[in-house]
Amino acid sequence: MATQSLQVVILAAGQGKRMHSRLPKVLHPLGGRPMLLHVLDSARRLAPTRLAVVIGHGGEAVTSHLEAPDVAWAMQDRQLGTGHAVMQAMPMLEPKGVVLVLYGDVPRIATGTLRSLVDAAAENQLALLTQEVEDAKGYGRIVRDASGRVARIVEERDASEAERAIREVNTGVVAAPFAKLEAWLAGLTNDNVQGEYYLTDIVAAAVAESYPVAVRRPQSPTECLGVNSKRELARIERLLQMDRAQALLDAGVTLADPARVDVRGELACGRDVSIDVNCIFEGKVALGDGVKIGANCILRDVTVGEGTEIRPFSLLEEASVGANARIGPYARIRPGTQLADEVHIGNFVEVKASAIGRASKANHLAYVGDATVGKGVNIGAGTITCNYDGANKHRTVIEDDVQIGSDVQLVAPVTIGRGATIGAGATITKDAPPGELTVTEKKQVTRPGWKRPQKSK
Ligand code: UD1
Ligand code: CA
Repeated sequence: MATQSLQVVILAAGQGKRMHSRLPKVLHPLGGRPMLLHVLDSARRLAPTRLAVVIGHGGEAVTSHLEAPDVAWAMQDRQLGTGHAVMQAMPMLEPKGVVLVLYGDVPRIATGTLRSLVDAAAENQLALLTQEVEDAKGYGRIVRDASGRVARIVEERDASEAERAIREVNTGVVAAPFAKLEAWLAGLTNDNVQGEYYLTDIVAAAVAESYPVAVRRPQSPTECLGVNSKRELARIERLLQMDRAQALLDAGVTLADPARVDVRGELACGRDVSIDVNCIFEGKVALGDGVKIGANCILRDVTVGEGTEIRPFSLLEEASVGANARIGPYARIRPGTQLADEVHIGNFVEVKASAIGRASKANHLAYVGDATVGKGVNIGAGTITCNYDGANKHRTVIEDDVQIGSDVQLVAPVTIGRGATIGAGATITKDAPPGELTVTEKKQVTRPGWKRPQKSK
């Protein structure tokens, strides 16, 4: 339908006073990303030829935080109203096609809803997105004439008692042909209770010249909710998380409870993935077929191979885990870690910037940092790589099929040769040869007749 070009203006100059925050409102994170990025995404899905964002309060913070080379930033120094805000963006647009106006603080509108508005405007109409609500408080009301046609929008503070009783409200989203919008904006006055240039007054202007006004409805009752306070932010975060959880369920992921999973980034799952309660996924996370994530795990920028189980209370960041591995419970996998297939990392084991080869195990209480570990290695409980000399970090190399006993210190830089065995309690400061047993001997002594000290009375 819409063969005309589309341009989008996003209003984001409001201060967001009710957020009680130094951070500009549109930068508050929602689903792990600044709110404005969600609105930009919605706009981009419509493939507009121009994308303008009106900023004001904290504008520099907004432009410096967001990398958006396709956005033309328009400055509105004083917040003189939504109509005034759109006027600031007009010079950045091409004088043709349809203009769609969105709000930077209304982040969940469905693409289909926006498309229906744009299509209506492309047929030479002023297109409004309106909604019937239980509680219309704070919204502009849609005033219709005796025959039910839209006559104008009245802001709550300018409305009469009778108008306040109207439950059809303005969501704020509008679309109109560029030339019409430009002419109507030029005619706005600030003759109202708030002394602002209301974008909503373009409706009466259209009606006055008998220009058709089309009304569209959102696909869901909650998609047009805006964020003005932390309460609303929290509510919209829950709605967004529920959207994501439903999408995961629809794709075949098993969620123990869709209300207790948070995806603050992108989560890609293979077939037969199951996720227990209270897990958080941040950044880009990819889980292969059959992966099981236990309760209370946090994964940030992680890929997990098929058949791997991440047991409860594990934290993994910037790491890759191979197939059929077993991680946790209580494992900490830090950035720069690559775990091959069938690796086992058990409780209270920390791994940092290390590569661990196929089927190697560190099952209890260990620290493996800056290490290259081969295949089939077993690292005993309490073993640590001493990778830091107080000034510099050094690497530890453990070759294939090494067995390291419990409570060993590997003082880097050091290499443990293939097939070597290191005895329990050893402090290894020099390379250990392949295939041999290396121990640092400590003599066990028993002192006959020794008495424990007694508490002095
Ligand atoms: C606006 C609408 C109202 C609608 C409501 C829906 C007008 C006059 N009123 O009211 O009919 O029901 O939204 O939420 O349009 N902004 C600027 N510059 C300004 C003023 C606002 O960029 O000078 C931006 C804000 O950052 C925000 C959006 O415009 O993203 C809406 O502003 P807001 O003050 O929340 O409008 P409302 O008074 O709620
Ligand atoms: Ca508002």
